[in-house]
Amino acid sequence: MRRTHYSSEIDESLNGSRVTVAGWVSEIKDLGGIKFLWLRDREGIVQVTAPKKKVSQEIFKLIPKLNAEDVIAVEGTVNFTPKARLGFEILPEKIEVLSRAQAPLPLDPTGKVKAELDTRLDNRFMDVRKPDVMAIFRIRSEVLRAVREFFAGNGFIEIHTPKIIATATEGGTELFPLRYFEKDAFLAQSPQLYKQIMMASGLDRVYEIAPIFRAEEHNTTRHLNEAWSIDAEMAFIESEEEVMELLERLIAHTINHVLEHNARELETLGLELEEPKLPFPRLSYDRALEILSDLGKPVEWGEDVDTEGEKLLGEYMVENENAPLYFLYRYPSEAKPFYIMRYDDKPEICRAFDLEYRGVEITSGGQREHRADVLVEQIREKGLNPESFEFYLKAFRYGMPPHGGFGLGAERLIKQMLNLPNIREVILFPRDRKRLVP
Ligand code: AMO
Repeated sequence: MRRTHYSSEIDESLNGSRVTVAGWVSEIKDLGGIKFLWLRDREGIVQVTAPKKKVSQEIFKLIPKLNAEDVIAVEGTVNFTPKARLGFEILPEKIEVLSRAQAPLPLDPTGKVKAELDTRLDNRFMDVRKPDVMAIFRIRSEVLRAVREFFAGNGFIEIHTPKIIATATEGGTELFPLRYFEKDAFLAQSPQLYKQIMMASGLDRVYEIAPIFRAEEHNTTRHLNEAWSIDAEMAFIESEEEVMELLERLIAHTINHVLEHNARELETLGLELEEPKLPFPRLSYDRALEILSDLGKPVEWGEDVDTEGEKLLGEYMVENENAPLYFLYRYPSEAKPFYIMRYDDKPEICRAFDLEYRGVEITSGGQREHRADVLVEQIREKGLNPESFEFYLKAFRYGMPPHGGFGLGAERLIKQMLNLPNIREVILFPRDRKRLVP
């Protein structure tokens, strides 16, 4: 039996037609002379009505024997009637049981009985059967489609860089070491060095969507040990401002795409997503410190703004500027990695920025230092050894245009967009300090 329609595809034009639907048994009701069954598929629910007089003996006997979550296919006639819960029903002529579900279930797929996050993640296949959870992953799919569409439409070429690497990108911490035959290697924490090397190749504008691996020890609601990063790098820029302009257009395009394509999912989640206003405000690090000091949370110049500070600033920007999204920029050079370009006239400040969304950093980026000699100096200054960066530095000695880019965390973006409490909600099988299975 082959499915002819999803539940959502059945409309009045099909009244009286034969269809085949397939999915999971969501609910059964036995009223003696008439039996009901509700079948759930990816797109919604259909009611199957079996009055004793109108269906075969076999079907009439089978329905009460079905378990919740059995997988079945039903062939029957569509009947539009105001008596049915959803306005129509299917009068079954054939029911095939494709797979049986054991009882009891590991969690309630209707969502009526709430389960702990760990139980849900241990049984993700069943958790995703819940419409609100499924909505998140349908939105995630559209987010990534929007991102690809945007990059392709703006002249970016998709690249793929290695995830098994020999050198730390952002300093030696947070790396997962592994044995690579006779050598020591690591899982890549960022495509940073490779996307920059590609700026010397003439590809000009590149992007990559791939996992990054970070051995962060702490278990937080915003960190994963395996996350998906949306990385971009562009050449022939004059300042970090061009990168910020591209990024804010990407974010606006993505949110607008979700508004357009995921109206149903947003409704399921009870969310009103706001259309973002461009340009996003640009808040200098110095100004952020002033605001934080006024809010009673002083930060010493040169230090990164911590999670609590970010949250306070986020609230301040919503209240005072009506801006859930804003840039923090003009960071102290000491707070940012070696590859960020410093201002020539003020080297203690650099051309790095972060994009904040409702008080959480979703992107870091900046203009890079493309002058080989200055770059070597900055590597040294950070206490790193330029020799271990030779494969990278080489690309700067034979014609490297000025360039910049960013890394946008896919899970951070989706978590903040959907206002979810935990980053684990937006990745199917999260990897964290405790989770390696499933
Ligand atoms: P950074 O380390 O700030 O910058 O990472 C960029 C973005 O990636 C996401 N992210 C994470 N998401 C979930 N769990 C994690 N453990 C995690 N770590 C990072 C965040 C963050 O803003 N090479 C630079 C980017 C660049 O300059 O192009 C970098 O990796 O959303």
